[in-house]
Amino acid sequence: MKITSRQLREKWLSFYEGKGHVNIGAVSLIGDGSTGVMFNVAGMQPLMPYLLGKKHPDGKRLCNVQGCVRTVDIDSVGDASHFTFFEMMGNWSLGDYFKKEKTAWTFELLTKVFGLDKDKLCSTVFEGNEAAPRDNETAELLKNLGIAPDHIFFLPKCDNWWELEGTVDTPCGPDNEWFYPLDLNKKNPVFPDDYVEIGNDVYMQYKKTETGYAPLENKNVDTGFGFDRMLLFLNGLSDGYKTDLFAPVIAELERVSGKNYDNGGEDRKAMRIIADHTRTAVMLIGDEQGILPSNTGAGYILRRLMRRAIRYCRQLGVESGAILGAAKIFIEKIYGEAYPLLKEKEGYILDELKKEADKFEATLAQGIKEFEKCVTSLERKNEFMSRSNPSYVKETVIGGKQAFRLYDTYGFPLELTEELALESGLTVDKQGFEAAFAEHREKSRVLAAGQFKGGLESHSETATKYHTAPHLLNAALKIVCSPDIQQKGSNINEERLRFDFNFARKLTEEEVAEVEKLVNEQIKLNLPVVLKEMSLEEAKALGFVGVFDSKYGEVVKTYSIGEFSKEICGGPHAQNTGELGTFKIVKQENVSAGIKRIKAILQK
Ligand code: ALA
Repeated sequence: MKITSRQLREKWLSFYEGKGHVNIGAVSLIGDGSTGVMFNVAGMQPLMPYLLGKKHPDGKRLCNVQGCVRTVDIDSVGDASHFTFFEMMGNWSLGDYFKKEKTAWTFELLTKVFGLDKDKLCSTVFEGNEAAPRDNETAELLKNLGIAPDHIFFLPKCDNWWELEGTVDTPCGPDNEWFYPLDLNKKNPVFPDDYVEIGNDVYMQYKKTETGYAPLENKNVDTGFGFDRMLLFLNGLSDGYKTDLFAPVIAELERVSGKNYDNGGEDRKAMRIIADHTRTAVMLIGDEQGILPSNTGAGYILRRLMRRAIRYCRQLGVESGAILGAAKIFIEKIYGEAYPLLKEKEGYILDELKKEADKFEATLAQGIKEFEKCVTSLERKNEFMSRSNPSYVKETVIGGKQAFRLYDTYGFPLELTEELALESGLTVDKQGFEAAFAEHREKSRVLAAGQFKGGLESHSETATKYHTAPHLLNAALKIVCSPDIQQKGSNINEERLRFDFNFARKLTEEEVAEVEKLVNEQIKLNLPVVLKEMSLEEAKALGFVGVFDSKYGEVVKTYSIGEFSKEICGGPHAQNTGELGTFKIVKQENVSAGIKRIKAILQK
């Protein structure tokens, strides 16, 4: 290796520390809820309030290396360059230096510290639109640094503007992106086909509003360079799994499987997926706000990642224990130094990975058999029909009911069934899946209602449901908006619930939709609402949340709803969430500074 991951971390940080920046370290991978984004997807995300003008305790020049999780490309993982976890090397000017210094420093870092050839660099700047002018200033600065004019390109908003999509009241602006040829031996590389982006400097001087963009008081700089990508690149490699961030894990997977990574094909793809997903799972469970696999929100994404990794273990012909072997290497040899918490939590992380793997392994084999049966019967049908009718169009869709059965009985996320289907050249009837889901929910509801006087509802039963709904709402708000959210008061009648909680602002439309979705998912799952009495101490130790501690006696009633909600509460409650109907937020109000109110209803 020309440069190790350890050296690269050090070089980035010391370069910017040398320019007066304070290394602020990394924060949790789990989003703080302020933007409605589930995970941290960029180094700037935790710095949002400061980019908008708040004073940062460490000053105006900051830098770090921040872990990020992006799962939108999960289906592309398995190739050489897509990952669900990566680190971003960042530095920021909070209303301090601007374009002149930034272009010069990025240029110095790339050419002097990293040794890139200035004549091979390409750079792109914003061409301008009605919201912001053409960035001639940056282009001039780049020319003066020695970048040839024909290596500087003006591009539109879709290329050279950076913002967190789907958010409002967030900082954004035009960016200056840096490119280098992927294959250094290629003569006369052509931009952009032969180039890769290595990083970007965003000139964050606008705020995204409901209707457009407004200038910010401070002109900020937000720089992000992909750590994994830079490492790859500086070592003259083109396969991300060949750097020291993965190589020892790949070697271990080769050892346990007896297969050779360099032979390529399906084995290599499986090794990549196992390695990538295991790394992300380790990071999420080992995070300071660590999460565990579950059926909702971030926990569900973690579960999906793990289940996918386990399935590829089977494909590679190794036990799911290979994941534990890989996890150990990530913790002990690769990331333990940069992330000391992983070492502290090692036993816990490995235990949780094993629990989830065991759970899924138990049903996976059966589920795959079941899936194969679906394929066989489809093939048989196609064969039979084509024989009797030569113009018969073959069916290529796995039915929604079958997909739902795989979900319900074998715990197959819909995506897993879709992936298996794709491998056999088939698709899945998604709408049919949703319909089967809805039908199942309706059946459970009727069944549950049957326990009450033949389905005739009394007033108190309606009230009971409105007792249970705030628990789901409380848990969903913690996931979507902030883990610090606490119930500050509530009131129910037979028509609606009212829920007060601490939060600085109203929820955005997206957040409202996400909260409703989470609550309704729990309702659909028809989870039992489980009552247990225990001491207040025990309840607290088990993570039950409560409102007015002082009012509780020695022994308290606790209600848990699946893994989703755990609250101390007097009740009474619905027996199953399926009784609740459909949850809908109808109004948001201000109660006082920092306290917001939601009114919501349960529709039948
Ligand atoms: N915020 C910029 C990015 O994520 C630096 O690429």
